[in-house]
Parts: sequence; C-alpha cells; structure tokens
Amino acid sequence: MQEIAYVNGVFCPMEQATVSINDRGFQYGDSVYEVIAAYGGRPFRMADHLHRLGTSLSALRIELDLTTLKIESLVREGLTRCGFDEAMAYIQITRGVAPRTHIAPPGIKPTVVMTFRPLPQVSAPAKEHGVALMTAAEIRWAMCYVKATTLLPNVLTRMDARAGGFHDAIFVAPDGDVREGTSSNVVMVRGGRLVFPCRDASILHGVTLLTVTQCAEHLGIACEERPVHIDELRAADEMFLTSTTEEVLPVTSLDGRPIADGQVGAITRRMMATYHDLARGLGVFQDRRRNSA
Ligand code: PDD
Repeated sequence: MQEIAYVNGVFCPMEQATVSINDRGFQYGDSVYEVIAAYGGRPFRMADHLHRLGTSLSALRIELDLTTLKIESLVREGLTRCGFDEAMAYIQITRGVAPRTHIAPPGIKPTVVMTFRPLPQVSAPAKEHGVALMTAAEIRWAMCYVKATTLLPNVLTRMDARAGGFHDAIFVAPDGDVREGTSSNVVMVRGGRLVFPCRDASILHGVTLLTVTQCAEHLGIACEERPVHIDELRAADEMFLTSTTEEVLPVTSLDGRPIADGQVGAITRRMMATYHDLARGLGVFQDRRRNSA
C-alpha cells in the first residue's frame, strides 16, 4: 500500500508528483476539486461527486469533458494502485498552465491532478461525545456551491476555531442565517425531524447531506430544507455535521453552550450508524454492496 498521485495522464508515487509554478491553480486558485471516500476499495457515491465536479467546472467556465477523460476508471485505477481499504481520492482540476496574467490565453489545457491516500478517521471520543463548534462571520464569496480550491476563508476560520479550542466553526451571515461548517454541512434535529439550510448558492451541496436525507427516508425520519436562524440552531434538540471525511459527526456544544443536554442525541446516533453501514455495505445494506460490486 502506498500513497499515489496522478498528474495529467501519469500515475506516480506521491513524492514524485509535480505541477508547474505557472499553473493557474497555484497562481490564482483558479481550480476546483472533489473529495471521494472509498470503502473496501470501492468509491462511494462517485457519480454524485463527478456530477458536482462538472457543475463546478461549468461555473468557472473550464472546458473539460470528464467522460472523455475517463475520470471514473482513473479514480478506480488509483484506488486499486494505492491499495488502502478505506481511501480518500482527491481530484483537482485547474484551468491550466500559462504565464501569469489575469485573463488566461485561449486553448490552454486544464491540469488534472489526483491523489489517493488513506481515509482520515474521526476519533472515537469525537464520535462518542460529539464535538464543540463556534460560530464565525460569513466571509466567503457568493458562489459557495462551487467546490473551488480558493479556501482561504475556510482555512483561516478553521485555524481560529482550533486556536479557541473548538473542533470547527459554522459560518453565519450577518442576518443570522446559518450556512455551513468550514468543510461540512450542518444539520439540526428539531421535533424529530432533520432540518438543514437551503441548498442554494450560499453553501456547498454536500453529497453526504444528500446521502443522509436518503438514510432518513429509509428510517422514516422527515427532512426539512429551509432557512435556519442561528437562534434556532442554538435551541436545537440535536446537531450534527456531514462530510465525506467526517461522515455524520455529532455536535454537542456551540460557542461554549451545550446543545440540549450536551449529549449525542438518539436521532444523531441512528444517522451515524445508518450512514456508516450504508457507506460500507454492512447490515441491511449488504445486498447493495453485492449488487454494486
Ligand atoms: N469538504 N461544505 C464545505 C464547505 C465543504 O468543503 C464540504 C466537503 C462539505 C461537505 O460536502 P460532501 O458531503 O460532499 O463531502 C460542505 C471536503 C471533504 C474537503 O474539503 O476536504
């Protein structure tokens, strides 16, 4: 097993992978990305991730046909080559290489980079007791549905959170509108239902969130997608984050105050267990694994 990279058609060991300093991804953050988890060597919800990658590319007007690139089989090949049972495939596509000037010359070829590494594991105490979050001012741009690599506001906000002893932060707009975590979506439980902010341009449309809504349907739990005010979030019965790398992560305090009784809630536990089993093809989802193998 080893960490593998892919750069413009060539697989290589991670430490040998390089891109040009004139790449617009490096110069301008002119690029988009995806993170796909693989369980038992199989990519999870790859079609949804690649669909979103296509949306991000179109939003940046980067012309690249993912089907012609055979991206699906490249991801599968990378996963096979790296050999990790639970792996994380990272895909980054930049506008390409050109001497630095704001407007790219026509016809430059997008740079395609991928890495294949072990899937980070959430710590057992975080899963058992939940994590502490803080709120932070929304300082990002107006196109957060694009999975762009320009993540400086997310990085700085996460650094502030960690420096303050929090696991992460949730972006909140000046009018109190709840957005999302620095690399996750946020869901609250209220009156037995899952409630989460509208998937409009102000947040990333998480593949994990989509999967969670399907898990909820499977469990007979209703979902409500609507604006969420920060006061409502503070008064939630339960709260959790969703992301490809953190799956369903319970949140038990916000800005130093407990969510409800400060314990991981019953519905959150069911969502965690159901997502865990669905992603890995365990329990009642065993047949799905056999069917998709
Ligand atoms: N981040 N919101 C933001 C801002 C994110 O960066 C992410 C994922 C999500 C959740 O999306 P999904 O469920 O499709 O992973 C929401 C990835 C994991 C990252 O940047 O590493």
